Amino acid sequence: MEYEKIVDLAKRRGIFWQGSGIYRPVAGFYDYGHIGAMVKRRWENLWRRFFLGLDDNFYEIQASVIMPEDVFKASGHLECFLDPVVKCGKCGNVERADHILEDLLKESFEGLSSKELTELIRKHNIRCEKCKGHLEEVEERNLMFPVAIGTGKDKRQAYLTGETAQGAYVNFRQMFDAMRRKLPMGLAIIGKAFRHEISPRQALIRMREFTQAELQVFFDPDSIGKHPRFGEVEDYKLFLHPAAGKMEHVACKDAVKRLHLPEFYVYHLAKVQQFYLEELSVPEKSFRLKELSAEEKAFYNKYHWDIQLDLESVGGWKEVGGVHYRADHDLKGHGKVSGVSMSVNVHGKNVLPHVLEISMGVDRNVYALLELSYRQEKARDLLAFPRVVAPFDAGVFPLVNKDGIEEKAREVYEMLRREGFAAFFDSSGSIGRRYRRIDEIGVPAGITIDYDTLKHGDVTLRDRDTMEQARVKISDLPAVLKRFLNGGSLSELGN
Ligand code: GAP
Repeated sequence: MEYEKIVDLAKRRGIFWQGSGIYRPVAGFYDYGHIGAMVKRRWENLWRRFFLGLDDNFYEIQASVIMPEDVFKASGHLECFLDPVVKCGKCGNVERADHILEDLLKESFEGLSSKELTELIRKHNIRCEKCKGHLEEVEERNLMFPVAIGTGKDKRQAYLTGETAQGAYVNFRQMFDAMRRKLPMGLAIIGKAFRHEISPRQALIRMREFTQAELQVFFDPDSIGKHPRFGEVEDYKLFLHPAAGKMEHVACKDAVKRLHLPEFYVYHLAKVQQFYLEELSVPEKSFRLKELSAEEKAFYNKYHWDIQLDLESVGGWKEVGGVHYRADHDLKGHGKVSGVSMSVNVHGKNVLPHVLEISMGVDRNVYALLELSYRQEKARDLLAFPRVVAPFDAGVFPLVNKDGIEEKAREVYEMLRREGFAAFFDSSGSIGRRYRRIDEIGVPAGITIDYDTLKHGDVTLRDRDTMEQARVKISDLPAVLKRFLNGGSLSELGN
């Protein structure tokens, strides 16, 4: 699958493109068109339904993206959220040092020190990719976006958040008191994050402003060895790629015994895998959970497995999320800097909760969906989106725009909208062209109103993937469409 094809389709069909495109665009900022915005929203809704459904003490909250400097002193972002960069002494071009090496030598160099990276650049005699000039020493640069609150002398230093997670930590106390004062408690945020990426690239894969969907599970560290619903997943096989090893399928109970991972952590790995394989229908061969080595792990993590998808268009396995055991790193830091105790009393016991984080980048996931759903067939290009995240449920088409057929089609369209379906109406061009258009934006069902509809009160329902068609009574259409969108096949549902 070629990257250019995906970006071209995205632009032509209203999915995404570079932001502020009428000016000289700045790398790393992308805007979504109507189709992209719908897919993204439906992906987010699926995420909400699935992860908030894991426990009745999990909630979604919203937090500011601008936060005072102290928040990021406490979190460690000001000190440790650094990327190694290298500047060309001749043209001034700046690049991520580890990425230059990665592109050239086809292995990961994450986690190496500036000194080690400089040595490797010298050893392989790597020059500036723009002008072939000499590259300077590698230095570390902070990724946070500073903003000033206030004007003139009253300015106060603040930052755009680099991860939604901090919004959950600064609100932990209020939420704990407002809710049932019970652990585990989960706080989810779907929102924006901002990072001064040195070399934003590959469209939605590495951006400067992006959306994350993150769930922070606060729990008593003494209970990490148990999860009350572990029995449901103990035989479920995880697709694991340990840091020192190769890909293997490991039952959850063996991940606990053999890989010494705690039950609480393994349960959530299983849920993440099920979200991808069962809810999003990602092919098994394209999914893995990859353990990061000590050097690669984020500075706050004790256990860190990335969620990776195999995306050919951007060079193979790509991280789209992670399952992070952040221990007490965050609450301890915020307690210290703010002076507000983050310990809570649960059943007479004083606990500083630990955090397990499920973190996903929404934009990267939307890009991955596009690549994994893109098919080129002889007569058409197709986005075979899972029905649950398709931009619309159905397109409604009058076969011709005369003899009362358009009016009847509008009636069907209005009825489907009233019934809660995301339907759209299209009466322009030949019916074949209209089908091609919905195939290309991944709408699973096409509904055509023709002369027989006027006689018999039925319509044609067409399946995007198989192109099979069935006749369905208008009175049955909402129920049949619902079953179809839930995975039913046309041969079972219509004539
Ligand atoms: N709260 C933990 C955290 O932020 P991360 O691995 O830095 O962890 C989580 O980011 C996810 O956010 C990544 O797996 C990725 O999907 C997404 N992400 C991170 N940086 C990104 C960027 N520059 N552009 C797009 N998505 C990004």
